[in-house]
Amino acid sequence: MSEATNLREEALAAIADAPNPDALETLRVHYLGKAGRVTAFMKTLGTMSPADRQLLGPVYNAARDEIAAAVATAKSRLDAAALDARLATERQDMTLPVTPPRRGRVHPVSQVLDELTEIFADLGFAVATGPEIEDEWHNFTALNIPEDHPARAMHDTFYFPPDADGTRKLLRTHTSPVQIRTMLAQQPPIRIIAPGRVYRSDSDATHTPMFHQIEGLVIDRNITLGHLKWTLETFLKAFFELDEVVLRLRPSYFPFTEPSAEVDVECSIENGVRRVGGKGAWLEVLGSGMVHPRVLEACGLDPAIWSGFAFGTGIDRLAMLKYGMADLRAFFDGDQRWLDHYGFDPLAVPTLSGGVGA
Ligand code: PHE
Repeated sequence: MSEATNLREEALAAIADAPNPDALETLRVHYLGKAGRVTAFMKTLGTMSPADRQLLGPVYNAARDEIAAAVATAKSRLDAAALDARLATERQDMTLPVTPPRRGRVHPVSQVLDELTEIFADLGFAVATGPEIEDEWHNFTALNIPEDHPARAMHDTFYFPPDADGTRKLLRTHTSPVQIRTMLAQQPPIRIIAPGRVYRSDSDATHTPMFHQIEGLVIDRNITLGHLKWTLETFLKAFFELDEVVLRLRPSYFPFTEPSAEVDVECSIENGVRRVGGKGAWLEVLGSGMVHPRVLEACGLDPAIWSGFAFGTGIDRLAMLKYGMADLRAFFDGDQRWLDHYGFDPLAVPTLSGGVGA
């Protein structure tokens, strides 16, 4: 009897102390398995006298059931603890974003080009393009810049070696040859803008050998300087997102326009930074004028019937003015840090209704 009690006490204490499910299983086999100690103990009942067996049977059975119950209780406790421990170490952070952060940014030149396209599309202008490798006729001659004209030298042109017939290809020095290509390709009325790369041998903080221009051309009957001024005012107000911009048309000279005007916008200078919309200072933003009759004639248009205006401006320069970059050369360095800072969200497409600026 006391042997049974000892075994029971010993087993219950060991089971209560089992540190993990594996240790518990070892104990279960040790006590309750086929060759286990409790099992062996139970077998001694068969060798007893019927009287002893009647007396001790219920005691042994109760002890065995109690040990089996203790194992079951300990097992569910230890299994739950093991699961908790596993859950604590196998943590998954469900708050991490599923997609990696977006890295690409829209370059300010592309952004401003999108803004300009949106503004002029709203005014009924189509987008025209032309080749960056031009011939002298489109880049100069047809624009009323004859061979001996000093303006050819003014442009710091990159020339290719002469062809067999003696003519030279060049990298276009402005987007104005697209005026010529458009007038040759379609009949008026014409309303186009022509954005693109242009090239001049020049390099400092505000000049790079490659830069971007946008050309505007309108050809119709009875087009006047008034139409030009209204168009430029409307465009600059939309671009700078101001209710009022004050323009100054300064008489100037371009061989392909007559009269010609350089256009300044009024601005303020605050801490050395020009701000469009302020007062007191002027900033030149574009070249413009009424299309020269000789240019119309070179394109087969009768100047007695057709008239028009043209303008050209630097896209990079507009970007610097609107978004405050100081050095043009950084535009073309391809430095990711610069682009992270000055670039635009690819999903924030400029629209007139949503605001063209960013
Ligand atoms: N093509 C001129 C330039 O590059 C700009 C211009 C375009 C001027 C159209 C008048 C009309 O400086």
